[in-house]
Amino acid sequence: MKLTQKMQDALNHQLNCEMMSSYLYLGMSNRLIELNFVGASQWMRMQAEEELVHAMKLYSYLQDRGGRVKLANLEATQEAGHWNDMVSVFKAALAHEELISTNFYEMVDLALAERDHATNNLLQWFVAEQVEEEATLVTLIQKLELVGTSGPGLFLLDQELATRVSIVTIQTAP
Ligand code: FEO
Repeated sequence: MKLTQKMQDALNHQLNCEMMSSYLYLGMSNRLIELNFVGASQWMRMQAEEELVHAMKLYSYLQDRGGRVKLANLEATQEAGHWNDMVSVFKAALAHEELISTNFYEMVDLALAERDHATNNLLQWFVAEQVEEEATLVTLIQKLELVGTSGPGLFLLDQELATRVSIVTIQTAP
């Protein structure tokens, strides 16, 4: 069964949103380095990588279903300079993820309306992933609010964040 034009457009839109998410998180990673949070910067860099994996999942799916991939221009975030502490960065990331979750819910509605069960199946993976991503960010923000904006607690949390490893390396390991 061929993808409808509407579904194809929605998948392309989300593919570009995932690329944009990656670009946003790369900007956040860079900002965290400027703020001297090396561990949080590493964490956010790994998040940027993970978003590329999400984008490629949609890219491959569009191709597998005989759809046409349309890549859009990426815009750099204008907000980087406004984040002056770690918690602001993570709160902005959570707000972004909540928007992405809404996108997926709307796409599921469309897939169900079109009785496109294959796309719905793919989207359910993303719906579950969004729950995990939002929960991770909420937990991190709670920890950051506990430790405050300076002191040894923040230093230790930054060190903990440095341990995040690349999902790309894991997924492509032999
Ligand atoms: Fe691709 Fe952060 O969701």
